[in-house]
Amino acid sequence: MPAKGVEHGAVRTNDVPPQKTIHPTNTVVVIGGGVVGRVTAWRAAQRGLAVTLVEPDPVTEPSTARASSTVAAGMLTPATEAAFGEEELMELGVRSARLYDGFVAELEEASGVDVGHRRTGTLLVAFDRDDLAVLTDLHALQERLGIPTRRLTSRECRRLEPTLAPGVRGGVLAPEDHSVNPRALLLALALAGERAGVREFSGYAEEVTSPGPGGSRLGVRLADGTALPADQVVLAAGCWGERVRVPEPVVPPLRPVKGQLLRARVPSGEPPLVTRTVRGLVRGFPVYLVPRADGEVIVGATQEELGHDTSLTVGGLWQVLRDARELVPGVSELEVVETCVGLRPGSPDNEPLLGPTRVPGLHLAAGHFRHGVLLAPVTGEVMAEALTTGALPPYARRFAASRWTREQTWE
Ligand code: GLY
Repeated sequence: MPAKGVEHGAVRTNDVPPQKTIHPTNTVVVIGGGVVGRVTAWRAAQRGLAVTLVEPDPVTEPSTARASSTVAAGMLTPATEAAFGEEELMELGVRSARLYDGFVAELEEASGVDVGHRRTGTLLVAFDRDDLAVLTDLHALQERLGIPTRRLTSRECRRLEPTLAPGVRGGVLAPEDHSVNPRALLLALALAGERAGVREFSGYAEEVTSPGPGGSRLGVRLADGTALPADQVVLAAGCWGERVRVPEPVVPPLRPVKGQLLRARVPSGEPPLVTRTVRGLVRGFPVYLVPRADGEVIVGATQEELGHDTSLTVGGLWQVLRDARELVPGVSELEVVETCVGLRPGSPDNEPLLGPTRVPGLHLAAGHFRHGVLLAPVTGEVMAEALTTGALPPYARRFAASRWTREQTWE
């Protein structure tokens, strides 16, 4: 049984009598206003569905720990995220990355918002010999999967990014691994959704209610008692989705994986610290620097499995800064803009959960783990298909939400 109640000061429904029941023509309720929920809502509305989105935080709220989309670095890097045993996930990432040009053009046109899509590639570098051995294996995997990447010597790396430390051992250039600004993306999706007819409710979804014998419909009950009837519901609330009660245990554990990072900027008038995303392995620890056009640099991120803990720690930030500075000593000169913490939603197998569950009308768009921003275009496509036809496109069947139920997992 999923945990009852909602996190961090939300009003509990049993303290507040039901207020109102809304019976417009809405037929889809999307729970969650992160990138995954909003892309689902926008694409579903474009297909003619009447969509309501439920989200407690304003889209412009920077860095609430609930909203991992506002904390994300925005790397679109399937090649440099590749991992042994995750080949199918990487193929989905490559598919989504290749949709990005068209997706951004359409979204910017629909919203009028520049989403900061930078097509400058990614350089992955190794700090010591062991890190280089890992990179060599990774490059072999990338080649086997036909992803365009190129091995570079230390000197070649430094020619591309002169601020790299001289000791860097070598690297891999992934010319098609780009980046986007997730906060701008979120705003663009909200505006595009609104213009496509998505209605928004500010509130905490507490329960997905099942159709009753008296003909009542599937629906969503909010913490203030508001009832939103729906033909279909999409649970897209990241790792907080586990706390929404559902009629049957079809939501597997959504493991929070904490990431701490910094937003920093080069002092005004100074040249950019790096000109493309630089990822590194430093004594086995991954670290990244993601530059934005306005001089901001995202320096991240820890990966910690501590449940719903959202504390920012000296140790976490120190680890990230220590490793980033080993790779790019000029990190020391950056001005700190903001420190952030977010919770990545990990599914039991670290792959997304998409589409119908065995509760009729209830879908998941969840478990995107490290890849929510990268997988946004493909998630929109898959979920719109699921909501309009009831089925997933063939390439997405492996990621069917119905592959897990609560009982089949380790709990
Ligand atoms: N996708 C980058 C991260 O999860 O830190």
